[in-house]
Amino acid sequence: MKLISRLVTHISEHPALFLFFRGLLENDFVSIRELIRNEMLAGEHLRTLDLGCGPGAFARHFPADSYVGVDINARYIGYARRRFHGDFRVGDARRLEFPDGFFNQVLIFGLLHHVDDAIVHAMLGECRRVLTAGGSILVIEDIPAVSRLNVIGHLIHLAENGRHIRPPEAYRRLYSEIFTIEKERIIASGICDYHAAVLRR
Ligand SMILES: C[S@@+](CC[C@H](N)C(=O)[O-])C[C@H]1O[C@@H](n2cnc3c(N)ncnc32)[C@H](O)[C@@H]1O
Repeated sequence: MKLISRLVTHISEHPALFLFFRGLLENDFVSIRELIRNEMLAGEHLRTLDLGCGPGAFARHFPADSYVGVDINARYIGYARRRFHGDFRVGDARRLEFPDGFFNQVLIFGLLHHVDDAIVHAMLGECRRVLTAGGSILVIEDIPAVSRLNVIGHLIHLAENGRHIRPPEAYRRLYSEIFTIEKERIIASGICDYHAAVLRR
């Protein structure tokens, strides 16, 4: 398991490899992209924050001049700037540099399962602050593999560095402390299973 874990860490350190392998495991993110198209708006006048944007693979769903991607990893942000259109910034989701009510919507994909409950609370508090009244978040987070037969899914979770993969009810509890949960569902993306929710400020 240590070997697989080191391999996953190595892959995560290289943005192009990270995207390639995740795309392979997640069927090129077909179901995630469909969810984003269905649940988020893409108008020119709407400001979107992609929090924990990683190498920026989802920027293309939004007009470049209204999309901001923030990630703590400077290497991912450097890659995103070279590959995709948008405003990519190195930053910490616990302390955002934007004014109150700046964004209409936030995308969070695969960020919160890396951090403990207190940090989730801080990050969601910042999201609430930077969202307009009535603004929304689409949050998609890893859950334990639904099927016991999904051996690769279980192995990946054991090996990856997301130490806070939670069951849906734990995400629900955290979200409802700060937002209204408007919709939620379990979604399969290749061999990965996620809890997806639309939260409203
Ligand atoms: C699994 S990756 C998901 C990246 C991207 N959303 C995607 O799906 O391709 C999690 C991301 O969260 C970022 N991250 C972790 N802690 C963070 C923090 N405190 N502030 C901003 N980004 C953070 C990591 O650098 C990493 O890029």
